[in-house]
Amino acid sequence: MKVLVIGSGGREHALTWKLAKSELVSHIICTPDNPGIAQLADTDEVSAEDVEGVVELATEKGPDLVVVGPEAPLVGGLADRLNDRNIHVFGPSACAARIEGSKSWANDLMYRYDIPCPQSRTFESAAMAINYVESQPVGSVVVKADGLAAGKGVTVPESVAETVTAISEAMEQHAFGDAGNTIVIEERLTGPELSVFAFVDGEFVSEPVAARDYKRAYDGDLGANTGGMGAYTSPNLCSPSDLRHIRETILEPVALALVKEGSLYRGVLYAGLMLTEAGPQVIEFNCRFGDPECEPLMLRLDSDLAEVCMAVAEGRLEESPVIWNDNYAVGVVVVSGGYPASYQTGYPIEGQLPSDGDAIVFHAGTATDDNGSLVTAGGRVLVATASSPNSIAEARAAAFTLASDIQFDGARYRTDIAANAV
Ligand code: AMP
Ligand code: GLY
Repeated sequence: MKVLVIGSGGREHALTWKLAKSELVSHIICTPDNPGIAQLADTDEVSAEDVEGVVELATEKGPDLVVVGPEAPLVGGLADRLNDRNIHVFGPSACAARIEGSKSWANDLMYRYDIPCPQSRTFESAAMAINYVESQPVGSVVVKADGLAAGKGVTVPESVAETVTAISEAMEQHAFGDAGNTIVIEERLTGPELSVFAFVDGEFVSEPVAARDYKRAYDGDLGANTGGMGAYTSPNLCSPSDLRHIRETILEPVALALVKEGSLYRGVLYAGLMLTEAGPQVIEFNCRFGDPECEPLMLRLDSDLAEVCMAVAEGRLEESPVIWNDNYAVGVVVVSGGYPASYQTGYPIEGQLPSDGDAIVFHAGTATDDNGSLVTAGGRVLVATASSPNSIAEARAAAFTLASDIQFDGARYRTDIAANAV
């Protein structure tokens, strides 16, 4: 089959790498371009966010399956537009992608179907939101932009002043554009965080898998929030009985709720959970794989990704088992100096960048310059990813060996990814 992959980050490189292993796949096209992906696929220049451009490209290339990596085109209706043209697509419709595209919609759905999540209130007026938070105990709320804000829309304030600033930035200074016109003030929960992923086809939910990501810029969870500085996944991260509990109390009920609401979900569902004393609660749903969680997760997927994605797209996932192996896998993101604030790009990249095996460097923000040399082109540049059948310590050591060999001006990475799991 011919597959068109949408998106050009480390997540899409990992998806393309896994798709390329499938005997069912004869040809992969990916848009936009990424030099790592270009070793495995033909690439194009159409931006992932350009829904009409992607629909035109798909119509011209005639893929058997389109695999969508990022959330924005899904929330923007890409899957619907492709379905209209009878093109199979892995990724939910705009209606179902509201689970990520609107936090108030997602919370409302969870309340109505008794899915454990924090209390929340939605506001369209900054004055009313401020009035409300002033009535709440200090440090008891979280402020969230309702819409997509590239992972930056959540503030966990420590004082009323910080809370008011977060509300004002979102609603009055439009820091997240229209995504912050509506905000959600949520009850602040405490506990360890866990990301759980499952393939979903209507009511049917596949075997789930757990991962942990590291969002803050510096070791010890210090510094600003980023798109993700690293991740790991291991069979010990969540016990089989806890994963079953999460599947039965969260994933299956939400999949059924989406069907009942006429928003049938087809794709991968990412539940961001907080493991509170009262049990796991949902702090966010995403309508796609996490990045960088996807990179180590692909090293644990034993099933044929092309077959699974096609089964989801055709509504027959129940016939196509999703098998995660018992390996340990770690991804360490090597970022540009300055990231997540401003940074320079165009620096030459040196080092070993293995592209296959159980230690792989996936490309995220890279490009080739006029001489064909590899240079930096983004904040998150490369994802050093490794797996081990034996231990998280071995997987970690291998990932850090890869990361330490990567050199470019200002290169930096967190040194504590998965340290707590050893
Ligand atoms: P998100 O962008 O939704 O992933 O949220 C970013 C981070 O904010 C999460 O990883 C949590 O650490 C924190 N967070 C989100 N919602 C809550 C909540 N209700 N209570 C406590 N922390 C939260
Ligand atoms: N790693 C977090 C995310 O992809 O949203």
